[in-house]
Amino acid sequence: MKISTSFLSCRNVVKAVRHLSLTDADYIHMDYIDFSFTDGRELSFRKMKKIAKVTTKRLDIHLMTCDLKKAILNFSTFNCEYITFHLEATKDPLKYIDMIHSYSIKCGIAINPNTDIEAIKPYLDKIDLVLVMGVEPGFGGQEFNFSVIEKLNDLRHYLITNKLNVSISVDGGVNDTNIKEISKYADIVVAGSFVTKGEDYQEQINKLKI
Ligand code: DX5
Ligand code: ZN
Repeated sequence: MKISTSFLSCRNVVKAVRHLSLTDADYIHMDYIDFSFTDGRELSFRKMKKIAKVTTKRLDIHLMTCDLKKAILNFSTFNCEYITFHLEATKDPLKYIDMIHSYSIKCGIAINPNTDIEAIKPYLDKIDLVLVMGVEPGFGGQEFNFSVIEKLNDLRHYLITNKLNVSISVDGGVNDTNIKEISKYADIVVAGSFVTKGEDYQEQINKLKI
């Protein structure tokens, strides 16, 4: 299981990313919010660019916007492992899957806690990652919604049955008490406030490695 660390809850984001870069986290998770898709903490593209310059870690970009064309174009110049957009944010996911792949970047699709996995099935043979939200998108520090576990179980089962090579990422509310359950289904976990609330980020990350 890989760990992708989010800095959304940090006051000084540049300082937080510098600190995260010193850990053995696999990716830095970047939450991009422009209010067209959800409320939340806005970090401008310009700020993201500044943040990206202070780390050599691969980036795991989570787009919470309906303006996908512009966002994908902007982030395609970053050191991205994944660009993930929300299924709920577009009527034409295929267009954006192709656009992300055209930059040789892996494509993820995110689904909110209330979105049924049926909705994502038509795209699973075309994408690299499903990001399952454990909380409503927008803010760090929320509590994991345990009803999502059933969805994770169904999704994992469907991927195995259909021999689909797609990674599952779980984003939101991950901590040292629920990691045991979540890690049964996740290839990647996104952890934000649990990691950044600690003085020593590495020490917090170690608590997620079970
Ligand atoms: C929520 C974001 C998450 C969030 C995770 O909209 O997508 O990535 O920052 O933070 P925690 O781990 O605090 O829930
Ligand atoms: Zn996120």
